[in-house]
Amino acid sequence: MTFKLTEEQLMIRQAAHDFANTECLPGVIERDEKQKFPYEQVIKLAELGFMGMMVSPDYGGSGLDTVSYVIAMEEISKVDASTSVCMSVNNSLVCYGIEAFGTEEQKKKYLTPLAQGRKGGELYIGAFLLSEPEAGSDATSQRTTAVAKDDHYVINGVKNWITNGNSASVYLVFAQTDLTKGSRGIDVFIVEKNWPGVTVGPKENKLGIRGSDTHSISFTDVKVPKENRVGKHGFGFKFAMMTLSGGRIGIASQALGLASGALERSIAYSKERKAFGTEIKNHQVIQFKIADMATRVEAARLLCFRAAWQKDKGEDYTESAAMAKVFASETAMWVTTEAIQIHGGYGYVKEYHVERMMRDAKITQIYEGTSEVQRIVISRGILK
Ligand code: CAA
Ligand code: FAD
Repeated sequence: MTFKLTEEQLMIRQAAHDFANTECLPGVIERDEKQKFPYEQVIKLAELGFMGMMVSPDYGGSGLDTVSYVIAMEEISKVDASTSVCMSVNNSLVCYGIEAFGTEEQKKKYLTPLAQGRKGGELYIGAFLLSEPEAGSDATSQRTTAVAKDDHYVINGVKNWITNGNSASVYLVFAQTDLTKGSRGIDVFIVEKNWPGVTVGPKENKLGIRGSDTHSISFTDVKVPKENRVGKHGFGFKFAMMTLSGGRIGIASQALGLASGALERSIAYSKERKAFGTEIKNHQVIQFKIADMATRVEAARLLCFRAAWQKDKGEDYTESAAMAKVFASETAMWVTTEAIQIHGGYGYVKEYHVERMMRDAKITQIYEGTSEVQRIVISRGILK
């Protein structure tokens, strides 16, 4: 066992750190306030090769390992979690799903531009459409249908809370093909946003990750060629679960970045701010807060690395990804709240960033499976 990062991983960390501080930090407060999608940032991430980090170079990706992905996600999330969620969905849900289970034609046509994040110079990213207004945690109870007819399927239904909903060009859409079969009656399809019958709803006005564009998407008699079904008939739910395990490593790393970013800001502030004639870092209560925050951040990082390492080794990482996500997201919420406390009144206003980080941290306990769902996954794995 080694706890040492490789030269390549150290370079990725430096590149992601520099990118976050030069490209994401300026304007991050304004994008949060105005709910502005980080278009320029995502295009530049694509140029860096960060939108298809783990995809094979044969399909336009960077061919990196999952540990490098965790490292990059942490660095970007320290500064801008709205940009990093866009990166996470494209990398670990959309690109991974098509690369692992798609046909050669699907990989050439869709995966290659998705991994490059661009097509013809324009942004080209994906979204993952599982949740519905009446089906979130209970994902098999979804009601969107796909009916086979001649050489195509006809999709009808509504998907909710879709990250990259308006900015994506390609959707992975889950739909029931046989309502009598439960989880085995679900399929997944590649649907292009501009196909007739696809309608993007208004942008959600959110507590956090306000730069990320979250929309409902409705489908009215959308014709999807049969060759756009991914995997075997009835494989859609397993596709969702297997893909989400990797996605949970991405969101765990996002939570890790929010926590470690808030910790770094707290350490710096505690060395500057004076109270009772000395820097607040000299008060033992502040020292102990920093000690506890640093310990939890380190534990979250190790869980993220372990899940990523298992994925890279081809081992089962379902439970370790769920552990990383539940622990890192709860750490993010706790550490960002403590960070505001350390900043006192200044922590409560936007210029000091930590209030946004606390608002952003909350979503990591909800999406890609709530903390309760992660505990279901972990306990089922342990008790089976
Ligand atoms: N790998 C492979 N197969 C799996 C699996 C896994 N990790 N987990 C479940 N399955 C299989 C089961 O083996 C079972 O297959 P069989 O019928 O062949 O036995 C089938 O899937 C059904 O499994 P369960 O009976 O366990 O299903 P369930 O209805 O009890 O649900 C659950 C389990 C873990 C709660 C699941 O529904 C779940 O993860 N819900 C949360 C949904 C979620 O995470 N949504 C995220 C949306 S995307 C998103 O949020 C993106 C974003 O924000 C940025
Ligand atoms: P519910 O499932 O209704 O849960 C409500 C509460 O009940 C939660 O606390 C939950 O943990 C608890 N609960 C439910 N079942 C159980 C149980 N069996 N045991 C114990 N507790 C339980 N979805 C996508 O498909 N794609 C996306 O890109 C996407 N992006 C998102 C972005 C944002 C900003 C948000 C808010 C959501 C996004 N989602 C996305 C949806 C997200 O995955 C769901 O919100 C989440 O899975 C929870 O579903 P729900 O909101 O329906 O809550």
